[in-house]
Amino acid sequence: MKGIVLAGGSGTRLHPITQAISKQLLPVYDKPMIYYPISVLMLAGIREILIISTPTDLPNFERLLGDGSQLGIEFRYAEQAAPNGLAEAFVIGADFIGDDDVALILGDNIFYGQGFSRTLQTEVADLDGCVLFGYPVKDPQRYGVGEIAPDGRLLSIEEKPETPKSNRAITGLYLYDNQVVEIARGLKPSARGELEITDVNMTYLRQDRARLVELSRGFAWLDTGTHDSLLEAAEFVQVIEHRTGVRIACLEEVALRMGYIGPDECYQLGAKLAKSGYGDYVMDVARAAGAGD
Ligand code: G1P
Repeated sequence: MKGIVLAGGSGTRLHPITQAISKQLLPVYDKPMIYYPISVLMLAGIREILIISTPTDLPNFERLLGDGSQLGIEFRYAEQAAPNGLAEAFVIGADFIGDDDVALILGDNIFYGQGFSRTLQTEVADLDGCVLFGYPVKDPQRYGVGEIAPDGRLLSIEEKPETPKSNRAITGLYLYDNQVVEIARGLKPSARGELEITDVNMTYLRQDRARLVELSRGFAWLDTGTHDSLLEAAEFVQVIEHRTGVRIACLEEVALRMGYIGPDECYQLGAKLAKSGYGDYVMDVARAAGAGD
């Protein structure tokens, strides 16, 4: 399976912060926002990742992430020239996807919870059609919202409905089989002029090939769309990291644990960042895994 991180958009709800910098490069406590979604794809076992952003911002992502070889994976880059909607990712990424399945994750979505990596790996292995992830929120009208039957089946999805049929938001992580490219190519722009991801999902739903996985109690799906939610996400990460001593979405650690790099390589990555607590942490993790032995 291939992976796409969509990190476009103009971040207008965070202005003036995002007037000169991409939203997905803003810090969420100790690392850039895009580390969080990248770590999700890596934990799912995905090693080929396409980063899509605006022509202005793309060079900054490349500067931050390089070609991925340092993490034992591959990053590629593609431009989204105008904010034409999330589903355009599959049109832009068609060559990159080739004949594969693909996971799309939005560059501003943060997922945290026990067993998530196993859930992802199972869903990737069993994929048939599309898999969506639902999460209960108190302000569903801000999201894609799933209507759920009493037996848990997904009945419909509405994009930012004024009167939501449930409190179940459809999160910004989507797994698709290869048909998604053809579906995205056939979409018509919505009233707001965008190729909507919700229309892609509705196509799978009509074919009875859309599955909803519930992320519930004990799981955190965090939003970074407003000044308050951005700060709250950072505070959440800080609290967990301080309490447990374990960092969330540390890409070097994820690469090590997934076996994409060895302890010595991991140590070298930490040494390059040694002036920050983050770098110290990467070196500690590498040492504990046997670096230098
Ligand atoms: C997008 C999707 C929406 C989804 C949300 C998750 O909305 O259109 O269905 O629930 O991401 O973050 P946006 O944040 O682009 O307005």
